[in-house]
Amino acid sequence: MAVDLLLGLQWGDEGKGKIVDVLTTSYDVIARFQGGPNAGHTLEFEGNKHVLHTIPSGIFHPKAINLIGNGVVIDPIIFKKEIDNLAPYKIDFTDKLLISKKAHLILPTHRLLDAASEAAKGKAKIGSTLKGIGPTYMDKTGRNGIRVGDILAADWEEKYQRLTKKHLAMLESYDATVEYDLKSMENAFFDSITALRTFKLVDSEQYLIEAQKAGKKILAEGAQGSLLDVDFGTYPFVTSSTTTAAGACTGLGVAPNKIKEVYGIFKAYTTRVGSGPFPTELFDEDGETMGRVGNEFGATTGRSRRCGWIDLVALKYSIHINGVTQLMMMKGDVLSGFKNLKVCVSYNTPEGKMDYFPYNISSGIEPIYEELPGWKEDLTKMTFADEFPSNFQHYIDYLEKALETPIKIVSVGPDRKQTIFR
Ligand code: GDP
Ligand code: IMO
Ligand code: MG
Repeated sequence: MAVDLLLGLQWGDEGKGKIVDVLTTSYDVIARFQGGPNAGHTLEFEGNKHVLHTIPSGIFHPKAINLIGNGVVIDPIIFKKEIDNLAPYKIDFTDKLLISKKAHLILPTHRLLDAASEAAKGKAKIGSTLKGIGPTYMDKTGRNGIRVGDILAADWEEKYQRLTKKHLAMLESYDATVEYDLKSMENAFFDSITALRTFKLVDSEQYLIEAQKAGKKILAEGAQGSLLDVDFGTYPFVTSSTTTAAGACTGLGVAPNKIKEVYGIFKAYTTRVGSGPFPTELFDEDGETMGRVGNEFGATTGRSRRCGWIDLVALKYSIHINGVTQLMMMKGDVLSGFKNLKVCVSYNTPEGKMDYFPYNISSGIEPIYEELPGWKEDLTKMTFADEFPSNFQHYIDYLEKALETPIKIVSVGPDRKQTIFR
């Protein structure tokens, strides 16, 4: 059986968690393939709201297996908190949650290094979530990292001490001071490692090979968004993993020819949290309205998200790099009430007009817009596409044509039920 893949096409927070939750009824396995607790995936149903950071977004469904792949970096402290928060739901984690032994661990000192690196950068800071993501992936590619499977070995604490000692020496080299109480950080860390040992730690690629042979339906869940990809994003203002489709191959051990549908999620406008270029960013009342109506605050850090018009140059780029086969448009409801909507179709750059995402979008880029008429109607109670006001339908048709990809799902609110299939 093929593996389908779901990922964000912008700078994250497109609504991946909501859609994975909605789609889980059609899948046997939901597998996260990269990122870590920098992610905040929000699910809403039956009047409750949940934010997941490490645990895949299929966890609330009674049958689906949720797998944390080798490409993910895990902070055991945050993972334990997430598990504790789910206590009221009486989820049988022993059966339903699998963790790759090859996933890397975020140590307390990785978080300190993240903080020092950001502080030392001053104004040039990335705007990291400070969860230790960058330093942990650096240790992974630098071949110094500690993997989940290591916590089962007798020499695990020695390994931990060796790496921590190295990190503490590195901390001294930063041109910034970070205050910390390592002892209390370590107490929480070792407690959570004890908890982590009680979960099913597996060779996840082998599990997925067998699941595919058995005809199971697998959905790979991405984190962040394509424009935060370490290669294709707005470098250096990116995260440290491959957030694009290729990341599902390396982050799960799924071969490229086994991937079938690639679901690309985007908001009907654009948001970004943290630093970095954002050509269609708004600094006016329109941007403020999007942020307020869309409740645009980071699910992980609570920071307010920067808002702007939809950017088709960026979306086309993400669609191509990922081989997106179906689109899902989120938060159209937030645009109700705008008289006109702007859609960025190309950029004016110092080198002339450009209709693709260039190497450097950090300076001198001016978006070129087309304007479409807005709609006033509240979309949040609608349940069928034929209820859409004609200008909203026109907006969808326009995007579908420009992006040359069908929009199969339109989301009109945060709840599971506010999801319209086309
Ligand atoms: P993720 O990181 O891609 O899973 O997205 P986040 O959970 O960080 O951010 C998406 C936010 O938008 C969450 O607060 C969701 O509850 C909310 N949301 C998702 N879809 C919709 C929608 O169609 N309309 C509105 N108004 N909110 C939505
Ligand atoms: P989800 O999965 C939005 C951003 C941070 C920062 C940059 C690097 O919820 O869509 P990092 O902590 O990775 O070193 O931060 O990436 N970022 C996200 N922005 N959604 C996310 O995840 C993000 N994960 C990281 O704000 O600009
Ligand atoms: Mg998020």
